[in-house]
Amino acid sequence: MREQTNKQTICIAGKNSIATEGLSYLLTNFPEFEYKYIPNKSDGGLDSWQPSLKKFAESKGVQEISLETAYEIPGIKFISLEFDRLVKPSRFSSSELFNIHFSLLPAYKGMYTSAHPILNGEKYSGVTLHKIFAGIDTGDIIAQTKFPISGLESARELYFRYLDEGLNLFVKHAESILSSNYVTIPQGLLGSTYFGKDSIDYKNLSVNLNVTAIQLINQIRAYSFREFQLPKIYGKSVIKAESCEAISCFPPGKVLWQTKFSMAVSTIDFDVVLTFDPVEGFIKELREGTSEQAILWIDKIRNLDDRDENGWTPLIVSSYKGDLKTSFELLTRGANPNTPNFKGTTPLMYAFTHFEQTGNKEMCKLLLNYGANIHAADNSGRNLEFFAKKRDSLLKYEELMVHINQTS
Ligand code: TYD
Repeated sequence: MREQTNKQTICIAGKNSIATEGLSYLLTNFPEFEYKYIPNKSDGGLDSWQPSLKKFAESKGVQEISLETAYEIPGIKFISLEFDRLVKPSRFSSSELFNIHFSLLPAYKGMYTSAHPILNGEKYSGVTLHKIFAGIDTGDIIAQTKFPISGLESARELYFRYLDEGLNLFVKHAESILSSNYVTIPQGLLGSTYFGKDSIDYKNLSVNLNVTAIQLINQIRAYSFREFQLPKIYGKSVIKAESCEAISCFPPGKVLWQTKFSMAVSTIDFDVVLTFDPVEGFIKELREGTSEQAILWIDKIRNLDDRDENGWTPLIVSSYKGDLKTSFELLTRGANPNTPNFKGTTPLMYAFTHFEQTGNKEMCKLLLNYGANIHAADNSGRNLEFFAKKRDSLLKYEELMVHINQTS
């Protein structure tokens, strides 16, 4: 029989680092409570580009419950940190229900708050700790952090800032909300805005070129989020848009010039130079063209560990191909030999597949010489030895171990 405790229950519901780190903070600093968690529907218990709340909570022995169960727990304190469902406050036995919303409420209630403020050319955004009421992000405000966003390059950067600032705000006020010792301010009518699920159609994202230069620049910023997508213009993924001084003399959207790496288009006012995604350019060239042409893109890549929407880094693709020259170029310029795809598959695992397919182990050796970790596990906890055993390639794995022993 489960031991009955008189501890008050706190339930963390949500996803991503704000939820895992928020829960971690509470477990360490407020051990006197009983903790439960509710993962988002998309949480399969594995880390991806964000940590899994399910995985973290299970590693700490925190029990998963359903929302229905949470409604039934007497005196529960419910904390939503990027939770994906609307809760019904009237069904809880308590009114101690809190949410961190990624915007400066009352503005930008609802969804895609990393994109809308940028699209609208806002200079500031922020994060808000508020009580959960029956509406969408309508509850009374407990605290807010405001920060400038005009210098942020993309929705991705803004989202990571939200995760950090949201966690800081939560940590700062955790004690007061846990002890029910806080003051609230109702949200007003003025400045209140809402954007729902259909406010941006990410599956069919299209950039409107019939706009001013700054509106075009802001669309590129707002739609740039590598793990989801990059905006495409005339079929090319774009990572950056910069305005020229020249006033446009042509109808908006006309291509003025184009090179391998960028193009210029006219807008309603100023011409804009669009920089193509060098990660996509590199990967496409390496898969369909030549190493020499692919290497030309490397200089343009700001972070060699950036991944495309499949989760591939340049080094993953060159390792899988067994392209020694290109991989060497990437490694000497600082590419991390251990940066995996979103599922945790490492460049060495890809190179090992090349070894299995061709019998050539040079790519594996190169990665090992640059510090690839042969024992690294993917997000399901499976390492190269596991795959080698499963695929009947243990002898090849042992050849690599011999190489490690000889070089160490
Ligand atoms: P998500 O957590 O799904 O949305 P929300 O901000 O509404 O809670 O996604 C985080 C951010 O990622 C979102 O603000 C905008 C961006 N995003 C994309 O760029 N493309 C997409 O397909 C999705 C779903 C989100």
